[in-house]
Amino acid sequence: MIELTKTGIDGLDEILNGGIVKNSTTLVSGNPGAGKSILGLQFIYNGVDQFDEKGIYLSFEENEKDLREAAESIGFDKWPDYVESGDIKVYDKQVLLRENDFSSSLELLLDDLEDDEYDRLVLDSLAMFELFFESEREKRTYLLKFTDILRENELTTLMTNEQGAVFPDTEIGLENYLTDGNIYLIQTPTDSGVNRYLWVAKMRKQNIETDIYPMEIDWGGINVHENASAFSMMGEGDSPI
Ligand SMILES: Nc1ncnc2c1ncn2[C@@H]1O[C@H](COP(=O)(O)OP(=O)(O)OP(=O)(O)O)[C@@H](O)[C@H]1O
Ligand SMILES: [Mg+2]
Repeated sequence: MIELTKTGIDGLDEILNGGIVKNSTTLVSGNPGAGKSILGLQFIYNGVDQFDEKGIYLSFEENEKDLREAAESIGFDKWPDYVESGDIKVYDKQVLLRENDFSSSLELLLDDLEDDEYDRLVLDSLAMFELFFESEREKRTYLLKFTDILRENELTTLMTNEQGAVFPDTEIGLENYLTDGNIYLIQTPTDSGVNRYLWVAKMRKQNIETDIYPMEIDWGGINVHENASAFSMMGEGDSPI
């Protein structure tokens, strides 16, 4: 029986047929501003708020204050309380980048990962994490090692990645193959702003809806619409960025 971890994000758990496969690692890809960090914040916040699951948020991009402000700006108003109580553990860029290589950063984390207290983890972002490595081979080895450690310690993980979803123009990175799930956040410019879409391209062991669904970012976070859109990745009018 496959156990699932609910995201608590309206519409997303339905597309995933119940949730993300427990102990798996999912890559959340998209261009700047697509909503990757908000999805990560919401996954961790909902874990505590709705499912009594503690979470770890690793940010190579923002400091603790930025994260708190981003969370509060979108309505996750108990974020500071959860950080205070230890239900959410934040490793921000000040902490992570203080170490000069990833193994030292990992050392900082290992105790937390191994004590079974946490169920969810977000790494924001993989692109920054990868800057620690000089070669493709080293990067790949570390990514595999890290995902193994996460799996062994029963963490359900989201990793964000700066990557568009326009195929075949965008190269599909190795990290897409090395992870169990792939979610793309897509935005297209319109006269009045942007249209946003979410696409679950892969979720190993799980029968998912692979259509592309419209979504919104608003007070309360991300909200995915129930009806698939007629959106086509190959263009004809809409031009995804
Ligand atoms: N309170 C809010 N209400 C509505 N929309 C918001 C709110 N806060 C943020 N947004 C939208 O979400 C977008 C940013 O999302 P987010 O920071 O998650 O993007 P990202 O994919 O992580 O980008 P980056 O790659 O730059 O880190 C903003 O550009 C804004 O349009
Ligand atoms: Mg971000």
